[in-house]
Amino acid sequence: MGISFEVLQKDIAGRIGRLRVGEKTVKTPALLPVVNPHLPIITPREMQEMGVEAIITNAYIFSKSADFRERALSEGLHSVLGFDGVIMTDSGSFQLMVYGEVEITNLQTLGFQKAIGSDIIVPLDIPTTPDADRERAEQELAITLGRIREARAFLGPDAQLAGPVQGALFPELRQYAGSAVQEIGFDFCPIGAVVPLMENYRYKDLVDVVLAAKRGLSPSTCVHLFGAGHPAMFALGVAMGCDIFDSAAYALFAKDGRYLTTYGSLKVEELSELPCPCAVCRNHTADELKRSPDRERLLALHNLYVTLAEIARIRQAITDGTLWELLDTRCRSHPRLLEAYREFLRHTGELERNDNVSKRRFFYQGSESCMRTEVVHYQRTLDRVSLGGRVLVTLTGSSPGGYDDVLFFKPPFGPYPQGLSETFPIGQSEIPYWDDDMVRTGCRGIARLAESHPESAITVLCPAEWTAFVRNELPEIEVLDEHAV
Ligand code: GUN
Ligand code: ZN
Repeated sequence: MGISFEVLQKDIAGRIGRLRVGEKTVKTPALLPVVNPHLPIITPREMQEMGVEAIITNAYIFSKSADFRERALSEGLHSVLGFDGVIMTDSGSFQLMVYGEVEITNLQTLGFQKAIGSDIIVPLDIPTTPDADRERAEQELAITLGRIREARAFLGPDAQLAGPVQGALFPELRQYAGSAVQEIGFDFCPIGAVVPLMENYRYKDLVDVVLAAKRGLSPSTCVHLFGAGHPAMFALGVAMGCDIFDSAAYALFAKDGRYLTTYGSLKVEELSELPCPCAVCRNHTADELKRSPDRERLLALHNLYVTLAEIARIRQAITDGTLWELLDTRCRSHPRLLEAYREFLRHTGELERNDNVSKRRFFYQGSESCMRTEVVHYQRTLDRVSLGGRVLVTLTGSSPGGYDDVLFFKPPFGPYPQGLSETFPIGQSEIPYWDDDMVRTGCRGIARLAESHPESAITVLCPAEWTAFVRNELPEIEVLDEHAV
């Protein structure tokens, strides 16, 4: 029993997995809609019909509500909400972050969550805000870890308990928190206190924090990105190795008259069309939606459909091995996401070791593609190519003869022997007309080949338009112009 996680397929650091929570299972990546017990704008039963396997609600709200508290204690949470899937309960920590205090102790919330039959119980962690200095972050992390230990001891080793990872903006603290929580013993770890980062578009900081936490966690742990609910950033979250998201955004944005898309959110007043295939958008015109007395609910439904569809798209991309392409597309929808994507790309050296060596395809989508794991991986494998004494790398496709080995060239990867022309990534990559960045990256492959084969003399044959550029990139290597041979 308890919680366990199994990874079934992966791409970059993203994965499709199976989360087992007691007798129930949830396919990941998954989106847990946040359910407000007081006024669920979409009922949990409706959510289940939309394919939702797990939801999250707030135990603190239940415990402070005169009517819900007693009902939850006597009937149980699943009966009150009318949902027989997985229900995760939050402890009140979010209120702690927003209001600075809560009227509940760690043991009280744990006891209450257990009593109402929560499937995933969260201790009263302290979400240290991003403005905290190191001293405060360390002190609060120590308290959080103490409460997590207390929770384990109180509820026992088989309890269905989440182990939150805090540490504010300090990567070493996040990594330490990840390994400390892992050591206490958890298969399900939320990364906390990231809501203020996302609210302020600080996606680059989010990348640093999540990657640091992941370094401390085991790769076989299910990771929940606490409070991440905008579909534009799910692909980034999954690529970093997050498996669970929770969304209040579908409802909060609806309340505010905002229409979610995977490329940002739009004010419903500004819409003259509803560019979405969901049932709401196909059954209403933009004007009908704006004027409907049901506007908030219709918007919430659309928002949830869009959110769930993006999760489905991400799962399909992992199966297809095309998560990089999806990530690249999504991160171009906002400059602050592009910034985060570039930060993520700075880490492909470490990501490459765990990525799949073969994929269905590689589509070049601009200079960022030069830093993808497949390029890093391919260039590392060049060290193992066996070469004779005189080697020609031809960028023109023709060869003048007189060489022991002739290699061809495909940017951004670099040189390749004929024998690799059909294998990934050379054979399954689509590139446009060469640009400077891809040729520069390909030249790095040539330089690497030269460095790893000091016994071979390497000559490069260039089409006239690239000769000067390649000579500049490879000052140590003999570069011939096609017209000079
Ligand atoms: N909801 C959003 N962020 C957090 C967090 O850091 N901890 C908990 N328990 N809930 C959250
Ligand atoms: Zn729609």
